[in-house]
Amino acid sequence: MNVICVDHIGIAVKDLDETVKFYEETLGIKCTGTEVVEEQKVRVAFMPLGDCELEFLESTAPDGPVAKFIDKNGEGIQHIALRVDDIEAALKEMEEKGIRMIDTQPRYGAGNAKIAFMHPKATKGILLELSQRM
Ligand code: CO
Repeated sequence: MNVICVDHIGIAVKDLDETVKFYEETLGIKCTGTEVVEEQKVRVAFMPLGDCELEFLESTAPDGPVAKFIDKNGEGIQHIALRVDDIEAALKEMEEKGIRMIDTQPRYGAGNAKIAFMHPKATKGILLELSQRM
């Protein structure tokens, strides 16, 4: 397994459309699309910057993980995603190393990726996502 780069930064916001408008108008970063991921109760806006992107996350339900995050912490950075070349190999490696994971199997991530979250207790307080682009 190789970690290639920071794939994206996930930022929890209350109002996705207002956020996209702000970043487009203030910083000139283009939004390339939005996607609803029902399973995670989230609507995502993609704003690529070189190899990395900002992913803004708006909850689609009051009990979704992003809504809960905002209730607890307010708006802001919710997770950081590292791009890996092989998510299955990455998960096997983490298991062998005994690393605490939230996901032990890959699942679908916004933007057509296979993802798995590591537990913040294992990563010095960061919700770290491993992501393989498909
Ligand atoms: Co993500």
